[in-house]
Amino acid sequence: MKIQSILLGAGTAVLLGLGSVTAQAQAQPTENAEQLYDENCLGCHGSEIYTREGRMVTSLDGLERQVQRCETALGLRWFDEDIKDVAAYLNHHFYQFER
Ligand code: HEC
Repeated sequence: MKIQSILLGAGTAVLLGLGSVTAQAQAQPTENAEQLYDENCLGCHGSEIYTREGRMVTSLDGLERQVQRCETALGLRWFDEDIKDVAAYLNHHFYQFER
């Protein structure tokens, strides 16, 4: 009985821990995104394009589509997760759309 409750306690702690890691990953763009962006996205335009007047992107969905458009044009073959991460990265630093 005692051992069971210790195990149960440990299990719950692990689950809670995982829960907060996932929540953080969603709120904050990952280092992966920053690295992908720095390595691939600075060749044609700098960050001025994201904050200029009359910018093309007007929503978070639109931002993900545009990231994918540039990514595909570059032939990068990113995973969907990478596209979402980089869109979140740009949203966090520049666009600041509400989800
Ligand atoms: C080969 C050149 C090139 C590279 C490299 C490039 N882009 Fe672009 N990007 C463009 C062009 C061209 C536009 C459209 C500019 C316009 O219409 O004024 C654009 C526009 C954008 C916009 C929309 C800006 C707005 O007006 O709101 C985003 C977001 C964007 N790019 C993200 C990225 C990301 C992320 C990467 C890296 C995967 C990337 N770009 C790499 C050429 C490039």
